[in-house]
Amino acid sequence: MKKIHMIVNTLMTLVLLGLMSYSLIGEVTHEILGTAMLVLFIVHHILNRKWFGALHKGKYSAFRIFQTILVFLMLVSVIMSAVSGIMMSKHLYTFLGITEGMALARGVHVVCAYANYILMSLHLGLHWNGMISAMIPNDKKSSATMWWVLRIIALAISAYGVYAFIKRQIGEYLFYQTQYVSFDESEPLILFYLDYLAIMVLFVFIGHYLGKLLKRIPKGNSSDKKPMTKKGRIILAIVIVLLIVAVIAIILFGIPYFNRHFKTVEVNRQQAVSGQKADWQGNKPLVVYFTRVGNTDFEEGVDAVSGASLLLADGKLTGSDELIADMVVDILDCESKAITLTGKKYPSSYNDTVSVAGDELREQARPQIEPIDVSNYDSIILIYPLWWSSIPMPVATFLEQNDFNGKTIYLIATQGSSGYGSTVSDIESLAKGAKVVRGTSIYCEDIPNARKTLYELITSGFNVSNP
Ligand SMILES: Cc1cc2nc3c(=O)[nH]c(=O)nc-3n(C[C@H](O)[C@H](O)[C@H](O)COP(=O)(O)O)c2cc1C
Repeated sequence: MKKIHMIVNTLMTLVLLGLMSYSLIGEVTHEILGTAMLVLFIVHHILNRKWFGALHKGKYSAFRIFQTILVFLMLVSVIMSAVSGIMMSKHLYTFLGITEGMALARGVHVVCAYANYILMSLHLGLHWNGMISAMIPNDKKSSATMWWVLRIIALAISAYGVYAFIKRQIGEYLFYQTQYVSFDESEPLILFYLDYLAIMVLFVFIGHYLGKLLKRIPKGNSSDKKPMTKKGRIILAIVIVLLIVAVIAIILFGIPYFNRHFKTVEVNRQQAVSGQKADWQGNKPLVVYFTRVGNTDFEEGVDAVSGASLLLADGKLTGSDELIADMVVDILDCESKAITLTGKKYPSSYNDTVSVAGDELREQARPQIEPIDVSNYDSIILIYPLWWSSIPMPVATFLEQNDFNGKTIYLIATQGSSGYGSTVSDIESLAKGAKVVRGTSIYCEDIPNARKTLYELITSGFNVSNP
């Protein structure tokens, strides 16, 4: 039986690591691993059913309270990540036909995925002694030197884990500071796994020593298996229910709330846009940009509760990419054109827009736009936000409506952490015959201060070489 426990636990750890690499292993594999994790999680609970059965028995030491809270938090977090994952599924669960609530599901999935990672590692830490006894036979446990060497190695890996935790922005995902998880697709997968393994070791380490500390706190006789009093059982049930309700409420209502209310950015347009000028070699380019403002049915007073990608430039609601376009126009003194929808606009709510855009991407929709003629230009500077790691579908319409043969398209993307996503290859496949040049991908929070970057990009050979 111990062996089955070990196999299930080891598989869960490996699958957990694999799950974290999301887009690096492909969406289908991610969905398969997610399903495998759910099955393993259920098996793990069946194997440990006695623990649940004994919940109402005996006294609660500090260790036991911590362990119980951890287990219930994990339960909530795993269930919520499974439900949100199934809702967003693009492969295995599309037969369910779920189309609503994508934006919320995305936020919940990101927070719960990272919470699972940390909680499961802490949980592993609490049971580390048990795991070790199952792994190493008794006769090989004698050497104190060996244990000290192992402790020192674990400490060194944990120290690196702190660095990896910061480098990989885990805290930001965990507390929903950013909605989109960034993956560097050019990075070797092994480096990604080594960092995540170090983060896991860090939390196993914390869990293990925290557990030891908690066990030292004076306790009642926790091995006493006498049934709890009725009052004790009621209190325990209430605490667990309240805890679950609180966690679900924070995830469901807190995430969209924080997302909407803490992202308004005020900008002094003149200061943000004007500055040093630069020359362009050859015919001046045309700047073409897409932004939410102008393509959205904003409700009255939306500026007071503006969503993540909106700016207030001199009190006027302004799209991030519009501000970037204005900066480029100021640097090069060239023309600019906005990609503007002629039909239905996007909804006022940021989350609803995320949801609509997800549907459009899945369907490869081509929303109608005002025509933009690029025939008089050799170069186009295309400025666009990342939407679901791809381009907004109105940008696809623009690319398909024009002949880019022999022209060069310079890319400036804005994003909430995904770099270029798949946009470079998306644009290459839509703008047939064009030479596509990466420029820069600007993180949304850096947009108001992006002029210097843009100036350096243009003057450092943006239009002559492919960086
Ligand atoms: C519908 C939608 C989908 C988005 N998808 C992503 C994404 O997949 N990755 C990312 O990093 N940012 C994403 N973002 C964030 C935007 O790329 C970012 O906020 C951008 O700066 C918005 O520019 P805008 O105000 O000009 O529209 C998304 C935003 C929206 C509205």
